[in-house]
Amino acid sequence: MTPPRHPAGAAPAPPGVLVILGASGDLTKRLLLPALLNLASDGLLPDDFAVVGMGRSPLDTAGFRARQRADIRGFATRPDFDEAAWSWLESRLHYLPGEFDDAAAFARLRTAVDAVAAGGPAAGNTLLYLAISPEFFSLVNRQLDAAGFTRLPGTRRIIVEKPFGRDLASARALNRELLAHWREEEIYRIDHYLGKETVQNLLAFRLANGMFAPLWNGRHIDHIQISAAETVGVEGRGGYYDHTGAVRDMIQNHLMQVLAYLGMEPPESLDPGAVRDAKARLLADVRPPTAADVAASCVRGQYGAGKQADGSPAVGYREEPSVDPRSATETFAALRLHLDNERWQGMPVYLRSGKALWKRGTEVVVQFRPEAGAARQGVSDAGNLLVFHIQPHQAVEIRMSTKRPGPAFALQRTGMRFDYADAFQAARGTGYEVLIHAALSGDPTLFSRTDFVERAWQIVQPVLDAWAAAPPGHVPDYAAGTWGPRAAAELLARDGRHWHEILTRESLARSPFFGEAPPLLLGAMLPAFRPRAASAGETIVAAGARDDAIYFVCRGALEVLRPDGTALGAVGEGEFFGEMAVLFSTPRSATVRATADCDLLVLDGEDFRRLIEGFPAVEARFRAVAEARRAADR
Ligand code: BG6
Repeated sequence: MTPPRHPAGAAPAPPGVLVILGASGDLTKRLLLPALLNLASDGLLPDDFAVVGMGRSPLDTAGFRARQRADIRGFATRPDFDEAAWSWLESRLHYLPGEFDDAAAFARLRTAVDAVAAGGPAAGNTLLYLAISPEFFSLVNRQLDAAGFTRLPGTRRIIVEKPFGRDLASARALNRELLAHWREEEIYRIDHYLGKETVQNLLAFRLANGMFAPLWNGRHIDHIQISAAETVGVEGRGGYYDHTGAVRDMIQNHLMQVLAYLGMEPPESLDPGAVRDAKARLLADVRPPTAADVAASCVRGQYGAGKQADGSPAVGYREEPSVDPRSATETFAALRLHLDNERWQGMPVYLRSGKALWKRGTEVVVQFRPEAGAARQGVSDAGNLLVFHIQPHQAVEIRMSTKRPGPAFALQRTGMRFDYADAFQAARGTGYEVLIHAALSGDPTLFSRTDFVERAWQIVQPVLDAWAAAPPGHVPDYAAGTWGPRAAAELLARDGRHWHEILTRESLARSPFFGEAPPLLLGAMLPAFRPRAASAGETIVAAGARDDAIYFVCRGALEVLRPDGTALGAVGEGEFFGEMAVLFSTPRSATVRATADCDLLVLDGEDFRRLIEGFPAVEARFRAVAEARRAADR
C-alpha cells in the first residue's frame, strides 16, 4: 500500500534506507518515528523506503514493530492518528539487536541493510542516524567504517545529534574523527532549532521583505535580544545537564543559529553552500569575549527552590536527581556580544537562555532606534520593536506608537501581528520532518558545517573558561518561576536598556487579577506593559511623588509605608499597587518598597486609564480596591 498523498508543496524524498543507530532509545520513539509518520502522511516518503534500526534492546523486527506501535500514539503530533500511514511505515521498519563494541553486530547490520534495499533504488541512498550518546560517536564511526558503510554504493550520509563536543577542543577532535571516515558533505550535524518553521522563516524574512532591508543594520537598530526561556527545570536529565549548563546546551548551538540567520549578509543564492557560507561569515565576525568582557557582559545563574508554572512548588537545581548538591553549573546564561563588521559595528546583541523561568518562550526582539526628531516635537518614541515569536507562539509582530482616539495627541504602544495560526493550516510536527526529508534528499542547508560548529565553540569558549576558573559567588541566585537572576537585568540596565519580557495572554492570565479580565483588554494591555526587575530594599514609589503608573507584582513582596515610615501594609504576588495615584490623580500617598527581589509589570497611568475605559466592570474592581485602601489610610 502506498501512503495517502496530501498536498504539501514538496516532492517525496528519493528512495533510500534510513539506518538508526540507537533505535531502541528515546529519540526514535519520541521524535524520529512521529516525524516519519508525518512525512508518510503527507506523501513525502518514497515507496522504496525502509528503516533499519540497531540498538541494545534484545528485540527482533516483529518485537520492535510491536513496541513502536504501542508507543506511537503517545508521541504522534497530529490530532487525527493516520492509521493508513502508520501501517505503511510499520511494514518498512526492521530491527536487529547489537552492542556498539561488537564488530559482528555491524556486519549483521550491513547484511540487513543490503537485504532490505535488495539492490533496488533504495540501495543507492543510505542515511545513517546516530541517535546515540556522544561517548559512542567515535566507536560507532569506526565500526561503521569497518563494516563498509563508508564505502556503500551511491550516496551515504551520517546524521550526528548534539551535543557536538563539549568545548572547542573536543568539537575539533570529533570533527577530525568524523572526517577520517566521511567527507564533509556526507556529515549532517543536526540542530533541531533549524527544523523550526519560525527559525527558517528568519531567512525568508531577510530575503523576501525588501522594506526591512535598508533598516537592517546598527544605524537603525539599537540592539537585538534573542531569548529562549523554559519553565521546566532539567526534567530528569540532571546527569547530562550538570556537565553541560545553559551555554553549552542552548547558546553555543541553537541561539547561534538564530543569530546567524538574523545577522548574516544575504547569501548569493539559496544554494546550500551559499547559505552556509553566509552564516559562517557572520559567526566569524562575532568577537569572542575577552576575560574582561566575560566579567563585564556575561551573566550566569542557577535556580533555587521556587514555583512551577502551575504554582506548585519546584525544587532547586541542586536538589534535582543526579545533580551534584554543590554544583556550580549554570541553568541560566545571558551574554552581550558584538559583531565586527560594517553592518553591525557598535551594536550589541544580547543572548539569554534559562530553565525554570516564569514563562516558556523563544523570542527575538529587534529594538529599532527612536525617531530622532520625536523628542524635539515633544512626542515620546520608545523605538519600534520587531518581535519574532519563535515558540510556542508562532508569529511576527511590530510594536508601534499609535495615536489614541480622542481630541488629545496622545500615543499608545500597539502591536501589528501576523500569526501563523491565522495564515496557515500547517499541521503540527516534531520539527524533525524537514530535517529528515532534507537529509534523505541530500540537502545540507539546515545542517551545521565544521566551520560553523567550531566557530560557535570559539565564541563561547572564553565564557566557559572564565566560569570554570571562578566558581559563582552566590548560588542559587534566582528562584524557580521568576525572570532569572538579578544580574541579567543589571547587565542591560548598565547599558540603559531592559529585557523585553514578551508577555502573552497565558502568562498574564496566571495572575489572579488578569485571569478574569476580558481577552480584549488583555490583548490591548500586552504591548503596553513595561517589565521592571527590582531588588530587595529598592523603593518603587515614594510618598509625595507625582508619578503616574500602576504596578503588578509577578513575583516578590513589598511593604507599604506611611510618609512617617510606619508600616501600612504589604503587597504580594498577583496583587497590584499604585492605583490610587492613577485613578484619583493624586500624589503618592505612601512609599512602596521591595522586601524581596521583585519582578513587576508597569503600566503607565495614561495607558491604564485609556485601556480600562471600555471595561466598566474592570474599572470598578480597581476603584473598589483603591477606595478600600484610601479608607484604610485614614
Ligand atoms: C535541547 C536542550 O537541545 O533543546 C534542552 O538539550 C532544551 O535542554 C531543548 O530543553 C529546547 O528545545 P525546544 O525545541 O523545546 O526549544
